[in-house]
Amino acid sequence: MSSMSQDGILALVSREYPWKDRFSCLDTIDSTNNRLKILAREGAPHGTALCANRQTGGRGRLGRNFLSPPGVGIYLSILFRPDCMPESLMHLTCAAAEAMCDALENAAGFRPGIKWTNDLVYNKRKLCGILTELGLTEDGKVDYAVVGIGVNCCQHPEDFPPELQNTAASIAMVTGKEPSRDRLAAAMLDALHRMDEDLLAGKEEIMARYRRDCVTIGQDISLLKGDTVRHGKALDVDSDGALIVEFSPGHREAVSSGEVSVRGMYGYL
Ligand code: BTN
Repeated sequence: MSSMSQDGILALVSREYPWKDRFSCLDTIDSTNNRLKILAREGAPHGTALCANRQTGGRGRLGRNFLSPPGVGIYLSILFRPDCMPESLMHLTCAAAEAMCDALENAAGFRPGIKWTNDLVYNKRKLCGILTELGLTEDGKVDYAVVGIGVNCCQHPEDFPPELQNTAASIAMVTGKEPSRDRLAAAMLDALHRMDEDLLAGKEEIMARYRRDCVTIGQDISLLKGDTVRHGKALDVDSDGALIVEFSPGHREAVSSGEVSVRGMYGYL
């Protein structure tokens, strides 16, 4: 179990990181996303970030929970306040996934793949999940975007509950050694800062990189929406992050991530 502290993380972020004065590392919180959304509504500035050693109510996509035990993971959220309409941020979760691939490559020494839209995977197992939440102003512009990231760092296989044993992994399980959580959290902050610099002007380039890392493209998949399952082949991801799926020869649809989850035909990937 590696330590994680505010001073330790801030000592390891790059000199260019501009938001050192607005980063906090907490021991326990219900959810870093919940807390940061409260701070956002109270006027917290662009670049405010929080991480925690443990979450008691960690949340995932589609109303799921995100298991967040102490000492073994990084639970981190960051607040952006871009001056744009929500339509311009459709690729934000993809951009954050690319940033997390960069962070893991820099700090853990390997580059994971991305299971569309927002899971970082290695050997068909999930290492990291991302939950993006937007708040809008009265005139429909983006007031805030909170990007929350949970990374499995130091777990051993038996640490995961039975229902996750076949689909979850940690960095320690991939590399054979426990990563420094301070170093990884610092690399995550640096990568998120670089992402923010290019987010709007660099969309096409970000999405080109996303397509290279996305392991869903080319796969036969099952799409789950409520109780409905549809099968198809994932052909591509468009510039807004929607998955282009061929459901039958010549019949293609762009599927956005809001309500669906994707599975391989025979399992998680
Ligand atoms: C998913 O896998 O569906 C997304 C998981 C996102 C988890 C992170 S941990 C930090 C932040 N706080 C939360 O409550 N959720 C996100």
